[in-house]
Amino acid sequence: MIALTGTPGTGKTETASILEKKGYSVLKIQEFVREQGLWEGVDEKRNCLIVDPEKISDRIEELGLRFDIAECHLSHYLRGIRGVAVLRCDPEVLKKRLEKRGWNPEKIRENVECEIIGLIAWEVREMHDRVIEIDTTRKTPEEVAREVERFIKYIFSETE
Ligand SMILES: Nc1ncnc2c1ncn2[C@@H]1O[C@H](COP(=O)(O)OP(=O)(O)O)[C@@H](O)[C@H]1O
Ligand SMILES: [Mg+2]
Repeated sequence: MIALTGTPGTGKTETASILEKKGYSVLKIQEFVREQGLWEGVDEKRNCLIVDPEKISDRIEELGLRFDIAECHLSHYLRGIRGVAVLRCDPEVLKKRLEKRGWNPEKIRENVECEIIGLIAWEVREMHDRVIEIDTTRKTPEEVAREVERFIKYIFSETE
């Protein structure tokens, strides 16, 4: 399984949907957490679920699930990840994408700052060797999906 990660708004879900249409199996972690009741609590301030990646990995194993791609900003924390694609975005553009979601200004600011410092890309490089960063700012979702697909093919040919 490869992880498709990045700050919220960088285009993970949209990219994953395109790859699904191309025939790749995708585990959308946020949906999986809701379906399986896997959350630990609710972060009221950020209006999101609190999850433990270990528990998500445990449930994937218990159910014997196998996927090509795990999609979530925490997917790089799952067990059995063979490579990680990190989606990036220019912070100014990211801000506009997040504003369209109607999120509160504090949550938008937090995520834009996360992208400015490159927090997720840094976390990923601390944990994994096979990493690609894709700047989505001036690419269409289809172009991003093609780059992720090329990476998947490389990873699967290297590690199978
Ligand atoms: N490559 C892209 N170029 C421009 N807009 C994009 C791109 N990818 C996604 N978007 C748009 O940005 C927003 C966030 O995309 P989404 O896939 O939901 O991000 P994520 O799952 O990473 O939070 C959506 O409105 C989506 O249509
Ligand atoms: Mg998403």
